[in-house]
Amino acid sequence: MRNILVTGGAGFIGSAYVRLAVEKYPFYNIVVFDKLTYAGNLDNLLPVKDRPNYRFVQGDIADREAVRGAIEEYGIDTIVNFAAETHVDRSILDPDAFIISNVVGVHILLEAAHRHKIERFLHVSTDEVYGDIEGNYFSKESDPFAPNSPYAASKAGGDLMVRAYHVTHGLNTVITRGSNTFGPYQYPEKLLPLFITEAMDDRPLPVYGDGMQVRDWLYVDDHAMGVDAVLHNGEPGEAYNVAGENLQHNIDVIRRLLTLLGKPESLLRFVPDREGHDRRYAMDCAKLRALGWQRQYTFDDALARTVDWYKQNEWWWRKIKTGEYLDYYRRQYAARLAAAGVSS
Ligand code: NAD
Ligand code: TYD
Repeated sequence: MRNILVTGGAGFIGSAYVRLAVEKYPFYNIVVFDKLTYAGNLDNLLPVKDRPNYRFVQGDIADREAVRGAIEEYGIDTIVNFAAETHVDRSILDPDAFIISNVVGVHILLEAAHRHKIERFLHVSTDEVYGDIEGNYFSKESDPFAPNSPYAASKAGGDLMVRAYHVTHGLNTVITRGSNTFGPYQYPEKLLPLFITEAMDDRPLPVYGDGMQVRDWLYVDDHAMGVDAVLHNGEPGEAYNVAGENLQHNIDVIRRLLTLLGKPESLLRFVPDREGHDRRYAMDCAKLRALGWQRQYTFDDALARTVDWYKQNEWWWRKIKTGEYLDYYRRQYAARLAAAGVSS
């Protein structure tokens, strides 16, 4: 392992991994390959931009020639794939890009990996492939998939293609399945960064349904370290759950945020639910722990750090909340907020 292509490395979790790997492994060359969609942001990579072992290439994982070119130019021997369309609500509004990047793109990367005899291929997947998890159950890696949103189904498709290339071609693959991740540099469409930045501006906070959905919250640096542990120590052909081990009802997380921000509960608006909304995600991560990984941050500490980061870094998110972002916000929220009595 020497020349690593990190696809999707300009996004939220990918950039956290790049910032970690560039520091931790000065003897690896880290080449970020990213399409720079609305969610890709070179500001996320500013902390490493002058490091000698870091390079950036703008490219699409669904573009066969671009992938081949990057692998050949940089003598790539390892691929870590974070690249994806990632927001469930957008997958309901506009699913096409999810199939192209999360299914076709993964296939093109795998085919290139096979042809170029890539030594190790890590694919970043999600707990959403297991679907809605009832009762007190915690998903295990061997459980069947039951994805419910177009996002989750597209990620399940990519995950299964990775399995197929291991079984069929003997490609040295590993898969991580992470839970809901939060922290600095997260695009402000996901629950936590949306609510932090909106609350800072005293704007209404759209809670879907009754707010009693359960998610397992994982700090981004713990997720990045889980990926790193699996990249180096995971068994070929295996998948590993990366869990926050911190199940919370949405409404409890939101109330804690408001307390940290010193904002009133009167900002909350209970709006019509997301279509097909999964009630609960929960994973068992004993398999990853057996590789030596363990969570470094408590939820309270991680949430406080995250809130603090958005307060200190308005330069980062204010320029995102313009143009395309506002169009998306209107499409996603105008009717919902109106139904909850908020006039636009
Ligand atoms: P993100 O939306 O912040 O970033 C995605 C990145 O991928 C962006 O930089 C974007 O430009 C790039 N990208 C998208 N399509 C591309 C393409 N076709 N070619 C090249 N680059 C492309 O996403 P994130 O939250 O950092 O998620 C990263 C990975 O982790 C994804 O695979 C996601 O499914 C998975 N994941 C995310 C979470 C979470 O809570 N955010 C949890 C579990 C797993
Ligand atoms: P999200 O951050 O979109 O992640 P995911 O859908 O992948 O779990 O949402 C986290 C939870 O917060 C989910 O149950 C949906 C809910 N949610 C809201 O209640 N309001 C919102 O505006 C958003 C974006 C999410």
